[in-house]
Parts: sequence; C-alpha cells; structure tokens
Amino acid sequence: MDYDFDAVIDRNKTNSIKWEFMHLFVPEAPAGTLPLWVADMDFPCAEPILAALHDRVDKKIFGYSSPETGEYYRAVCSWYQHRFNWYVNSDDIVFSPGVVPALGYLLEILTEPGDGVIIQPPVYHPFSGKITAYGRTIVNNPLLYRDGCYSIDFADLAQKARDLRNKVLLFCSPHNPVGRVWRREELLQLGEICLENGLYIISDEIHYDLVRRGITHTPLATLFPEAKHRIITATAPSKTFNLAGLQLSHIIIHDRELRSRWLRYVRDIISYSGPNPLSLAAVQAAYTYGEEWLEAVLAYLDDNVAHLRNFLGRYLPDVILPPPEGTYLAWLDFRAYNLPQEELFARMVKAGVLLENGVKYGKEGEGFLRLNFACPRIILAQAVERMAGALA
Ligand SMILES: Cc1ncc(COP(=O)(O)O)c(C=O)c1O
Repeated sequence: MDYDFDAVIDRNKTNSIKWEFMHLFVPEAPAGTLPLWVADMDFPCAEPILAALHDRVDKKIFGYSSPETGEYYRAVCSWYQHRFNWYVNSDDIVFSPGVVPALGYLLEILTEPGDGVIIQPPVYHPFSGKITAYGRTIVNNPLLYRDGCYSIDFADLAQKARDLRNKVLLFCSPHNPVGRVWRREELLQLGEICLENGLYIISDEIHYDLVRRGITHTPLATLFPEAKHRIITATAPSKTFNLAGLQLSHIIIHDRELRSRWLRYVRDIISYSGPNPLSLAAVQAAYTYGEEWLEAVLAYLDDNVAHLRNFLGRYLPDVILPPPEGTYLAWLDFRAYNLPQEELFARMVKAGVLLENGVKYGKEGEGFLRLNFACPRIILAQAVERMAGALA
C-alpha cells in the first residue's frame, strides 16, 4: 500500500495540544508557529486502526470495558515476540492509562517516601516530576556526552547503585531526548550493576518500535531471565502507532506479589476501571494489522533524519545533531552559538518554531533544544529555515 506522509493534515478542531493548544503552554508563540515540540506524529493513523475504530463506533455503546479476551492478548504478545523475540506471558501484563501515570504507581509500590531513584539526565522530564511528586529523592547519574555522542557513566552508576538509600533505576530505553538505542553490551552492564546491588529497574521502553534501519532495540528484561522479577517494563502502542490520546499502555510486571500490589493500588487508590473501548479496538488492530504502516513510517523517519542533517548542514552548520538512533526526536546542540538558554528558546519561538527547551530535561540540557521530526518534510524544511533566521 502507498502512504503519503508528505501530506500536511490540518489538525485544527481535533483538540490537539501540539497544534491548537500550544498557546496554553507558550502564549507568546505567534500565529502560524510550526509546532515541533510534543511527541506525537503529524501522520494519519494506519487504515486498519481507523477501520477498527469505525466498526467499534458503529456498535453504538461505550460502557465499561475489559481487555480480557484471547484476541487482545494474542495481538499484544505476538507483537513482542515477533518484533523483539520476547516471550511475555499475558498474565504478566497490567494496564495503565499511560506510561507516565504508571511510573508514579510503580514508585508507590516499589519504594518508600525519601528513597533514592536514579535517573540519567538529560532525560524525559516527567521522570524527575514523578519522583518529586511521590516524595522520593532524585539521584542523578548524568549521561556522558563526548564528540556528539552519549553514553552511560557506568562508574558513577555503580557508585550510586551501591548506596543503600537508592532503590530503583528509572531507565529510558530508547532514550528520550538524546535518541540513543542502548546496545546489548550496555544493557548487560547496566542491568548487572543494578541487579547485583538489589535495585529494581523500571525500564520505560515506550519508544521501542521507533528505531533507525539497521539498529536493534533489545528489551532489557530479555537479557536477565533469572532476575526479570526485578525489572518492570513499560510499553505502549501510543508512540509507535500515534495513539497517545487514546491512553492505553501495557506494563509488564513478572513478579506475582508486585503485580498484586499494583492491582490493589490501581483498583483501590486510583479507581482505574480499565482501558476504554475505543483504545482496545484501536490497539488490537494496530498490533494485528499495523506493521506494514509502521515500516513505512520508519522509512520516512529515516529519510527525515537524513534531510534534517542536510538542512542543518546548509542553514545551521554549527548545530550538532547526536545520531537519533531511535525515537523521532532530535536533540540539537546549539552550544556553539553561546546564547543564554532562555534567549535561544525565545528566538525560536519568535521566529515561529516551537521546540522543547533543553533545560526541561535537566541542567545537562543547557544549550540544547529538542525537535520532533515526525512531520511532513516540507514542515521540517520550513522549520529549519526559520531556525536559521532566528540565529542570523
Ligand atoms: C520516555 C517516555 N515515556 C513516556 C511518555 C509518555 O507516555 P504516556 O503518554 O503513555 O503517559 C513519553 C512521551 O513522550 C516518553 O517519551
């Protein structure tokens, strides 16, 4: 099937935060701003997902719903198996309206107030937000940044893992915003350090499907079959299939006792009654019939990276782009321009391009902006031209 990801789709009147409601977050953004900030894609969903949603709507009633059908679990577990050679028992999957809320629930059941939770900044900002909101302590194990490439500081991680006050590593794999897809050797070293020291690992793998051609994502839990009860993996179809607004994620908890704690917490404290019927229809269709569309999107994203590099080379040659091995987010290093962070961000906004401010991800993001390249190429080109104008 042919897909036209070059088509610019009007997202007005769809309640889009990225497009229609950016002013709530950045009131000074001028009319006509190109929004390359929030992590959803400007591409239409796969046809089989749209067809499944239409079918479900035709059934007319949207009551409380349960995912407990063989077809649903078959779709999800076959995806894990087929894409990652990962055998997940359906009993080990629990549901959450999103990965971010799940991170909070997990901190609640795995740790006590005050406990240390290790994160690797610059990293997706709700990580630190959730740790603080739940009264736990942020422990930073910053990534190393050398010659435009990011890596894990294993010596520092080992030191922090040995500290008995620290109970959890909150891991981002693939990594938002720096775009690393951690290799097997890196995952083995990281897992060994944490597990030897009795830490739990919450592995946020929401971007697992979004990797560049030739690069492989390895689910951390597959490398530690004996210790997988200490690894909790957060997955979701939301980034992969552009379904974030439907709010459904799958959290894999192998340990039975932890799973019961989760279920009690979600039932009694959160009163989450389970996934909504539209999300169930969409996700089952996505994991059953969505692969061809995903492969087409991945090819388009690969090309967008190449185009972004060209545009930057032509218009902003001093910007460094660490290889976005995964995700559809480019972590742009503007430090050569020597601008105060707020001025850098404000100049882009004034020029009509909304990016994410690097310092949102930690102080390590000073001098950086994050750009979402899951958009038609024409928008990407216009955005880079405007960015160049902003710095001229
Ligand atoms: C690493 C990471 N985790 C979680 C999320 C959001 O998850 P959800 O929308 O399921 O809460 C994002 C969105 O960008 C993300 O990058």
